[in-house]
Amino acid sequence: MIVTEAVDRYTESLRDEPDPVLAEMERHAARDGIPIVVPQTGALLHVLALAVAARRIVEVGTAIGVSTLYLARALPPGGKILSFEVDEERHAAARSYLKRAGALDRADLRLQDAREGLSDVGEQFDMAFIDGVKAQYGDYFDRLLPLLRDGGLLAVDNVLMGGTVAEGRGDGRWTEEQIRSVRAFNQRLLGGGQLTGTVTPVGDGVLVAVKR
Ligand SMILES: C[S@@+](CC[C@H](N)C(=O)[O-])C[C@H]1O[C@@H](n2cnc3c(N)ncnc32)[C@H](O)[C@@H]1O
Repeated sequence: MIVTEAVDRYTESLRDEPDPVLAEMERHAARDGIPIVVPQTGALLHVLALAVAARRIVEVGTAIGVSTLYLARALPPGGKILSFEVDEERHAAARSYLKRAGALDRADLRLQDAREGLSDVGEQFDMAFIDGVKAQYGDYFDRLLPLLRDGGLLAVDNVLMGGTVAEGRGDGRWTEEQIRSVRAFNQRLLGGGQLTGTVTPVGDGVLVAVKR
């Protein structure tokens, strides 16, 4: 945890009660050890999508659809989120949950490696969310940046890895190699001149940036 337990508990307590479908998704993820965004990150994504009035969103790493649902719920009628997942079971679960949550009409869920899928996408997006394999973050970014409109928003999860990224050493969960690669990724995005952004200590660390 990056912030103190008290801060984490307090900020989580400020959220609305999750609706029954979202609560079930959270229980499913906890039971099966599926990594999903924490509620504060979900709320942040939802607010960011509203703030840029996103109509088209792209996501890498659907898992069972928790972050997809937070983002889909910020879309106006006719809006769409395109989301990639490589795990068949998770992809199917996401489809079923989003349908039950009444959001499947706003979601284009693809069972495909995002690195392939993104290369075939020929449209522009208002917002992108990266939450796949950490070692592949640079590959996702290379493919996503040209698809993001000028002024579009990029969000990336787990860029502080429980705080280890700041400390520069592994903790058993995150390896030194993963930490080095995320440090280089953060530096590249925030120091590269293509984006204006920052790293927020929300959840596991969320990088938020706007394309210049
Ligand atoms: C951290 S989880 C995503 C959690 C989800 N965004 C949420 O918060 O509800 C990462 C997911 O990315 C998927 N994944 C891994 N490599 C991928 C790739 N190359 N393309 C698409 N999805 C990938 C994994 O199977 C896993 O379910």
